[in-house]
Amino acid sequence: MTAATNPTPQTSDDDWWRSAVVYQVYVRSFADANGDGVGDLQGIRQRLPYLRDLGVDALWLTPFYTSPQVDAGYDVADYRDVDPLFGSLPDFDAMITDAHALGLRIIVDLVPNHTSSRHPWFTAALAAGPGSAERERYLFAEGKGESGELPPNDWESIFGGPAWTRVADGQWYLHLFDPAQPDLNWRHPEVRAEFEDVLRFWLDRGVDGFRIDVAHGMIKAEGLPDVGFSSTTTGQRQSELLGKGRLPYFDQDEVHDIYRAWRPILDSYPGGRMAVAEAWAETPQRLARYIGPDELHQAFSFDFLDATWSADSFRKVIDTALAESTIVGAPTTWVLSNHDRQRHVTRYGDGEVGLRRARAAALLMLALPGCAYVYQGEELGLPEVLDLPDELRQDPAFLRTGESRDGCRVPIPWSGELAPYGFGPEGGELSWLPAPATWRALSVAAQTGVPGSTLELYRAALRIRHAHPALAGTTGGVTWLESEPGLLAFRRAAGDAELTCLVNLSGAEVTIDGYGQPIVASADLTEQGAGHVLPVDAAAWFERR
Ligand code: BGC
Repeated sequence: MTAATNPTPQTSDDDWWRSAVVYQVYVRSFADANGDGVGDLQGIRQRLPYLRDLGVDALWLTPFYTSPQVDAGYDVADYRDVDPLFGSLPDFDAMITDAHALGLRIIVDLVPNHTSSRHPWFTAALAAGPGSAERERYLFAEGKGESGELPPNDWESIFGGPAWTRVADGQWYLHLFDPAQPDLNWRHPEVRAEFEDVLRFWLDRGVDGFRIDVAHGMIKAEGLPDVGFSSTTTGQRQSELLGKGRLPYFDQDEVHDIYRAWRPILDSYPGGRMAVAEAWAETPQRLARYIGPDELHQAFSFDFLDATWSADSFRKVIDTALAESTIVGAPTTWVLSNHDRQRHVTRYGDGEVGLRRARAAALLMLALPGCAYVYQGEELGLPEVLDLPDELRQDPAFLRTGESRDGCRVPIPWSGELAPYGFGPEGGELSWLPAPATWRALSVAAQTGVPGSTLELYRAALRIRHAHPALAGTTGGVTWLESEPGLLAFRRAAGDAELTCLVNLSGAEVTIDGYGQPIVASADLTEQGAGHVLPVDAAAWFERR
């Protein structure tokens, strides 16, 4: 097998995001430079060459702003500063300067739906009392019942329990997530002005884009109407409707006005500044409304992440996502894992089977047109850590629902024989979540230069993705090829160059012939006659030029 050579990073044009590979850095778990057991901006800075060599185009950094860290930084107390846990503004400036020098772009997370309860606006709202102008920036309301002892409506927090908390003077405030994350009132002009200014603050510091947290949530239906059921009445949690049904607190039409105001701000800066929505909508059609030339550039396609391990399931979500993105003229995004979801090695069956499938899924994702998001550690084939002791779990949702996202947030193993495997400097604190002993063999150092390792598979695929004319820089569609059941086969082409991606989800090995030469594969291919045998749960790229 030969890998394509002469990689050309796609870093120079304004449309870079259309076909970029973006690496999600979960800041507290990526690299710890100061030895306190928590990842930081200096740690990222030191590891930038690793990311350049991996072959990604951009980094998305999860929130590093001043925060009490109730929800791992998604509770922001100061949108214009860095939490001392992660460093300082000068550290950020140094990191972004180095990243740009290496040809890597930086996307930061913006959390506009809610602030921290320690944000000065919320502290002022509590102090000022009912009816005050300060309370208008949030969603305070009187309760129901004889003395207002019941929440204003039946809305549930995504983290479980009621979405309302009562304060000492008797009013209630809305928090769609933790009580420490009060929802802002986006019908208030000061809220809108503030976030436009926050966008400019980070754009002025050179960021290349924003990941918009809960992008579907900022506007709530007028009058705050009941949903009509809740887990206490029916046993079904309202959050089960995410991505499937309508909720009065998500995906309201007016939310699009906010993005129409943001787009000209992004466009007024040079270099192709972009924004990607973390949005949940009832249908792919409604999700597509977040993207386009006058709104955001991208929205995560979680249907791909949710696809089950079957050819039909992948084919359906890929076709739908591509069709929607064609209509709105924006590329789609592909994502297999992130900091909120169980890692895909584990989702696909865990252990050896899960890893085989995860490797095949990587080749599937990286062959598709559009922008791919890689979650830190997936290039190492990391599984979910399922056996973290409860007392170490920190996800606020764990306390309310028993479900925890900590298992996908365990710090990255870099090198060495002992935990935390080079995550921090020698002699530093242990990492904030412990890495299992099995991760010694999965560290970056253990996989570097090892033929067939997951890290080398990602490196090879990313190198080809950048260099191959059929994949590089294009936003064209895919051509599905007729194939036996359970085999996904599609072609990308540019001029005379053709690249075919084959993924074997059939449960039996398949002999393939007539697609050209294999250039990368997630498992060993054996030659058979003029063709090759593609093992179960494996994928390969074949080229013809
Ligand atoms: C983020 C979560 C966070 C939540 C509240 C999500 O979309 O990805 O990690 O807990 O928003 O900010």
